[in-house]
Amino acid sequence: MNIGTGLGRQGIAFSILALALLFLSGCGPEEKASTAVAPKPAPLFDPMSLEIADADLIKGREIWVPTCGQCHINGLGGAPKIGNFDEWGPRIAKGKDVLYQHAIEGFLGPLLNEMPAKGGFMDLTDEEVKLAVDFVVYASQETQQ
Ligand code: HEC
Repeated sequence: MNIGTGLGRQGIAFSILALALLFLSGCGPEEKASTAVAPKPAPLFDPMSLEIADADLIKGREIWVPTCGQCHINGLGGAPKIGNFDEWGPRIAKGKDVLYQHAIEGFLGPLLNEMPAKGGFMDLTDEEVKLAVDFVVYASQETQQ
């Protein structure tokens, strides 16, 4: 009888511990699984690895790296990654003027991923945003072959 109760208490204590652990760890993996970005096997493109001579493209890169690069290097929030022609090809096909407009005014994609106006860097001039677009398009076309 004593032994029985003892085990019972241990059992209850164990169940509470197990439940507490489940509760503490339960949400983590599920949340991660639902928000995880699909695995991307291709290595990330280093925008500085590109050899460019054109002064405007060099300026575009200087603008692009610390601003646009925050999302467009690693694909944050569903942003098309620089140097990934699979992701950029269909966008480049829309024409530069559409891309300029979407970069300057913002754009909500078909999967509701948001390109904020000027990437959120409202102190950039329209001209600077266009130079940044020219750079990302050039870099992504360079990877086509
Ligand atoms: C906060 C993250 C973020 C920043 C910063 C950002 N972008 Fe984007 N951008 C996105 C996302 C997300 C998309 C994809 C939208 C979609 O689903 O088509 C996108 C898409 C684009 C597109 C393609 C638009 C189209 O019509 O397909 C261009 C061009 C672009 N960005 C340029 C820029 C430029 C230039 C900058 C810097 C001035 C910049 N982005 C900064 C998140 C960002």
